[in-house]
Amino acid sequence: MASYDVIIIGGGPGGYVCAIRCAQLGLKTACVEGRETLGGTCLNVGCIPSKALLHASHMLHEAEHNFAAMGLKGKSPSVDWKQMLAYKDDVIGQNTKGIEFLFKKNKVDWLKGWGSIPGPGKVKVGDEVHEAKTIVIATGSQAASLPGVEVDEKIVVTSTGALELSKVPKTLAVIGAGVIGLELGSVYARLGAEVTVIEYLDAITPGMDGEVQKVFQRTLKKQGLNFIMGAAVQKVETARGKARLTYKLRKDDSEHDLDADVVLVATGRKPYTEGLGLDALGIEITRGGQIKVDDHWQTNVKGIHAIGDAIEGPMLAHKAEDEGMAVAAVAAGKHGHVNYGVIPGVIYTHPEVANVGETEESLKKAGRAYKVGKFSFMGNGRAKANFAGDGFVKILADKDTDRILGAHIIGPSAGELIHEVCVAMEFGAAAEDLALTCHAHPTYSEAVREAALACGDGAIHA
Ligand code: NAI
Repeated sequence: MASYDVIIIGGGPGGYVCAIRCAQLGLKTACVEGRETLGGTCLNVGCIPSKALLHASHMLHEAEHNFAAMGLKGKSPSVDWKQMLAYKDDVIGQNTKGIEFLFKKNKVDWLKGWGSIPGPGKVKVGDEVHEAKTIVIATGSQAASLPGVEVDEKIVVTSTGALELSKVPKTLAVIGAGVIGLELGSVYARLGAEVTVIEYLDAITPGMDGEVQKVFQRTLKKQGLNFIMGAAVQKVETARGKARLTYKLRKDDSEHDLDADVVLVATGRKPYTEGLGLDALGIEITRGGQIKVDDHWQTNVKGIHAIGDAIEGPMLAHKAEDEGMAVAAVAAGKHGHVNYGVIPGVIYTHPEVANVGETEESLKKAGRAYKVGKFSFMGNGRAKANFAGDGFVKILADKDTDRILGAHIIGPSAGELIHEVCVAMEFGAAAEDLALTCHAHPTYSEAVREAALACGDGAIHA
C-alpha cells in the first residue's frame, strides 16, 4: 500500500496529461492503467494508428491521382498490407513508449492493473489498496453497441478491429457517417475497397456547419465513397465469412439488404466506467451514462474528480487533456480553466475538415446577428500548386462587434489552420485583427486571412 496526493485511473490523453501536470506541480502522483501500454484508446487503437493509415493511404492516393500530372511517371505503388500494419504498430510503439519515458522523467508511478474505488480516498489495483487525497477518473469511452449487431472484431468490427483487419476487404459497409466512419472509410476506399456508408440522418457529421457537410459529402463521393442516407440499420448477420446488413429507409420504411466483407460499426461511443464501483460510492451519473461533475470536475463525492470521455462534452482527446491539466491545477490548490467555447474539432480525411465555435445553424437558433466571411482555396496560389484547391474557409463574426464567433474549414491542412482562429478567439479577437495580421505568401494560411478580410471590406483574391 502506498499513499499519494493524486491517483488517476486511466492512462489515456486525459489521465496521462493530468498525471504529468500533477507531478510537475509537486504532487506525489500515480496513474493506474491496465493495458500493456500507456496512452489509452487514442494512442493504442484510435487517433494515432488511424492517422498512420490515413497518411499511408493518402500517399497512395497522391501517387495514383496527382503524380503523373506533375511529371512524376512510373508504376503506382502496390499495397503491402502487412508492412502498412507494421508501420502503424511502430508508430503506436514510439508514442506509447514516449509516455512511459515521460512518466519516469516526471516521477509518476504507473500502477499496472485495473483500478476501482472501494471508498473515498482509496484506489484498489489488483490486491493492493492505495490511498490518495485526490482521485481522478479518466477511464475514457468504448464503442456504443447497436441493437441487432454483434461485434466480433473480425467481420463486424469497431474502430479497434478496423485497424487490424487481416486484409483489405473488397467491400466495406460503414454504419454511421460520423468522424470514425468517414476517416476509416476513407482509408479503405483509398486502398481499393468499395465503401458504402449507411447513415441514419440526412446529413453526414451531425452538428457540423451545414455548408461544410454538403461540400464534404460531395468531395467524399468524388473519392468513391457511396452513401445511403436516412437509413436505420436493423441488423447484421454473418455467414461463411461475410456479412449481410439490413437497413430500413426512413422515408418509406422499405427494407433493404447490403452484403459486405466487413462491417464497421461507428455509431458513437459511451463512457467506460464499469468496474470502478461508482454505484456503491453513490456517484451521480447523467442519463447518457456520463459521470456528473461540478465546475472543478469534482463528482458529488468530495475528492473524487472525473475528466474526458467519462464526463459530458465532446469526446475528444484534446478536450480530455485540457481537463487533465485543469484538474491537476485544482488538486494543487490552483485555479483550473477550460474554455469550452474554443475546442477545435478536426476530421483527418483528405481534404481535412476543421471547426471551432459557433455554426451558422447554432447562431440562427440563438437569434444572434452575425456576418460571414468566406474564401475558397481555389483563390489560394499554394493550394492550386498542390492540387488542393477544393474547399473553403468560413469565419463567422458578430455583426456589430466583429468579434469572431466560429470558423469552419474544409481544405488542405485544415486541422492546422484552425488553430490560428482558436488563438484569435481565445484572445477575444475581431475578424479585423486577423485581417490586419501579415500572413506569409504563399501559404494556405492566407486563406484564413482572406476569409477574415471577407468579414470586412472584402477578400482580395475572390
Ligand atoms: P459520431 O457520433 O461522430 O457519429 C455516429 C453517426 O452514426 C451519427 O451520424 C449517427 O447519426 C449515426 N448512427 C447512429 N445510429 C445509427 C444507425 N442505427 N444506423 C445508421 N446510422 C446511425 O460517432 P463516431 O464516428 O463513432 O465517433 C465516436 C466519437 O469519437 C465521437 O465523439 C468523435 O468525435 C470521436 N472521434 C474523434 C475523432 C477526431 O477528432 N478526428 C476521430 C475518431 C473519433
